[in-house]
Order: sequence, then structure tokens, then C-alpha cells
Amino acid sequence: MAAGELDRREFVKRSAAFAAAGSIAGPSLAAHAVGAHANVAGSDSIRVGLIGCGGRGTGAVVQALRADPGTVLHAMGDAFAPRIETCLGHVHNAMAQSDEQAGGGSSTFRDKVKVDEDHRFAGFDAYRRVIDSGVDMVILTTPPAFRPEHLAYAVGANKHVFCEKPVAVDGPGIRSVLASAQEARERGLNLMSGFCWRYKLQVRELFEQLHAGRAGEIVSVSSTYNTTGWHKPQPRKPEWTEMEWRLRNWHYATWLSGDHIVEQAVHAIDWLHWAYRDVPPDRCVAVGGRMTRPDVPETGNVYDNFSVTYEFPGGARAYHMCRHWPNTPSDNTMYLQGTKGRTHMNPWAGRPHAIVGEQPWEGSAPNNDMYQQEHDELFASIRAGETINDGEWMAHSTLMAIMGRMAAYSGQVVTWEQALNSQEKLTPDTWEWGDAPPCELAIPGVTKSA
Ligand SMILES: NC(=O)c1ccc[n+]([C@@H]2O[C@H](COP(=O)([O-])OP(=O)(O)OC[C@H]3O[C@@H](n4cnc5c(N)ncnc54)[C@H](O)[C@@H]3O)[C@@H](O)[C@H]2O)c1
Repeated sequence: MAAGELDRREFVKRSAAFAAAGSIAGPSLAAHAVGAHANVAGSDSIRVGLIGCGGRGTGAVVQALRADPGTVLHAMGDAFAPRIETCLGHVHNAMAQSDEQAGGGSSTFRDKVKVDEDHRFAGFDAYRRVIDSGVDMVILTTPPAFRPEHLAYAVGANKHVFCEKPVAVDGPGIRSVLASAQEARERGLNLMSGFCWRYKLQVRELFEQLHAGRAGEIVSVSSTYNTTGWHKPQPRKPEWTEMEWRLRNWHYATWLSGDHIVEQAVHAIDWLHWAYRDVPPDRCVAVGGRMTRPDVPETGNVYDNFSVTYEFPGGARAYHMCRHWPNTPSDNTMYLQGTKGRTHMNPWAGRPHAIVGEQPWEGSAPNNDMYQQEHDELFASIRAGETINDGEWMAHSTLMAIMGRMAAYSGQVVTWEQALNSQEKLTPDTWEWGDAPPCELAIPGVTKSA
């Protein structure tokens, strides 16, 4: 049995006992409810707000509600009102399932969903209204273009945050996230990233061995994120403004998603960054283009393939390839070569990882649910009055993906400093339901890199 499952079973048992005693949280949790920074002091409940009620937001809320006996869903926000109701339906079903698994005799989990009608907010300002509604922590799961603004407001309002990857789509967004991460540290807030492989115990264990020198000095790492692509984009309906249409197809506009290297493949770029102990690369060169994506307006301006070479201080290299090609094999793996050994990591295989070479090693960590692990660790940290702050490395991993895109779009070498200090702001200054930024296809040698 995976560790996460064991934890949840324990939790279910405890929740049932506490509910019988008239309180959802037990005395041991009340004693630890110290997170004064986020208003949980003296309270057994931790009020959760969700901003972005799509697929990931729904999953993250369910995980938050299962992570701690005192978590309650208090407020929800989305650009589109119907998404809130759909999400609520899924969350209710998941909670009913948890009650069923707990023996079916109580509504302990269903009672955690306490989103009154006046705590459901739609529109571009929904994030402010959720954050201002009396929540203790927020889950940020909108398209990435909004993340810097939402994160800054949440941290400024003293909220703990679960922040999905990627955390921005451009250099100005990254600088804002770095500033928010620093502010969260100063305020003693938890800021957890959705770079979920960092919370997969088998992968963690492997990286610990690599950092301890089990494969010697790392000289090169490569990773892939090859898939058949996102869901099909929707053609524009006459009643939709340009902004509404682009937002409904957000993956396909670089200014909303960052392109697939930033939105998706960033997970595998994060491995490269992590392998080199979160030291950023000096520079990168890349190629990319759009070979199989139909050239129709709804596919926006995103490429369908990228290949990037990163150069790190001292000359070590990292290579990344990602593509969205239908009818081709998927691959999401990492291959690392050190001076004394190597590893071929396939995290989807669900089996312990190994290092071969002078000091062979085989992992033994359980195959845990990394998404649940994130929330288990986050709420344990909030309860203990501790702080997890993933801010800097999550921003840097995202910037690695952004600089790869900049290099591919422009055909130029892009340095870390150039990407970090870039003045290229992809997002509009204000969000309104009218016009939208253009989706122009980048042409290497013509498109500027910053
Ligand atoms: N860690 C992971 O494995 C993982 C998996 C999936 C998605 N993600 C990330 O989660 C984020 C969301 O992805 P998703 O798959 O849930 O997308 P989605 O389209 O299913 O959900 C996004 C939701 O945000 C809403 N939204 C858009 N703009 C908004 C705004 N300004 N304010 C409030 N709500 C807004 C949309 O209407 C939609 O309901 C992305 O950054 C994605 O990369 C991470």
C-alpha cells in the first residue's frame, strides 16, 4: 500500500472519531493550529479558496480536502461561472466517495464543502474576491498568464498558497513571482509549487542519491516531453469576443500558456534544473517550429516541437526535447550521465529507480500519489507553523522553459540574464472581455528574443 493511502486511511479514522466528538479536528491538531500569518490561529479549520476551477483546480481541491481533517472549501472563483458549478459537482462526488470509503456512516468529507452562493465568484476579478472572502490559503490553477498577478495579491493578503506550474509566461512575470516568493518568506507564508515530481518519493530519493554523488559529477542530462498534444481547440462562436475565445482556447496562445514547452514540458525541464541543484544555466540555444499543427486561427501561435541545449556554469550541458505530434510515441523520461554512473529515469513506470556504474543503487521508496503528497506536506507545514517556500526554484524552472522558447522563436542564443531581465511582456495591462493580444507565429531570424 502506498504511503499516501495509509495516511488517508488514518485520517479517515481520525476524522470519524472527531466528528463523533462534535468537532471536525481533534485536540492534537487544535494544539498545532498556530499559523497566525494566515489567520488559522485558534481555529481548527483551514479555509481553502480555489482560483481557476478547471481540471487541475478540481483535483487540487479534492487533495486539499483529503489532506487535513480541518480543511474546508470556502470560496471559488473562475473566469466563467458554469465552471464553478461543474467543479463543485466533481468535488461533491469525490467527497461522497471518501465518505463511502470511510465506512459510509458519516458525511465528514461532504461537510467540508461549504461554498455558499455568495462565495462563488466569476470574472477577471474573481481572484480578488476569493482572496478577500476570509480564506486562509488559496489554490492558484488558472492558465499561467494570470499567475504572477494572482500570487502577488494572495501573498500581499497573507494567504498560504498552492501555486500550479508554470508560474509565468514571460520575464516580467518571473520577476514578479520572485518578488512574491521573497515576500512570502518574509511573512512566514507557505508557498508550494505544483511541480509535482518534487513530491514523488521515488524521484526525490533518486535525486538525493545523485546530489550525494552516487553517479559522480553530473556532466550531462537530457529529458523529453513528447506527447500527441492537447485537446482540440474550439472554433470561434459569433457571440464570443476575441478575449473570450482565446481564453477558452488558452493553451494555443503563447501569451496565455507560454507555449507547450512552458505549459507542459516545463515538468521535464524542472528535472534538468533540479539535477544541477537548482543552479540556473548560463545560456541556451534552441530550435522549434510547427510541422503537424494545422494552420488555422484556433491553433493560435504555439509551436509543436522544441529542442533546447542549455549550458551551465563550468560547461556542463542539459538537453531537452518536446513535441506535440499526433500518431507518434509518447516519451517523458530523463537520462543522466555522471563521471561514475548513469540513470535512465522513467517516473511513469511506477517502480523504484536505479543508478548503474561504480556505485550501483536501487531505490526502495513507495509509489506514492505525488499530487496528494503535495497537499499532505503543505497542510502539515501550515499546522506546524512551519514554512515551505518553493518560490525561487519554481520561478527559475519556469524561466528555463521561457528562455528555451525565446531561443527557438528568435533563433538566437539567449542568456539567463537576458531572459530574466526581458522587457517582453506578453500579457495585457488590464483584462477585459473585448480585444485580445495578437497570436503571431514566431519566425527564427526575424522574431526578436527579448
Ligand atoms: N502539475 C500538473 O501535473 C498539472 C496538471 C494539469 C494542469 N496543470 C497546470 O494547472 C493550470 C490549469 O490547468 P488545467 O488543466 O486545470 O486547465 P483548465 O482549462 O481545465 O482550467 C483552468 C481554469 O481557469 C479558469 N480561468 C481562466 N482565466 C481565469 C481567471 N483570470 N481567473 C479565474 N479563473 C480563470 C478557466 O475558465 C478554467 O476553468 C495550468 O497552469 C496547467 O499547466 C498542472
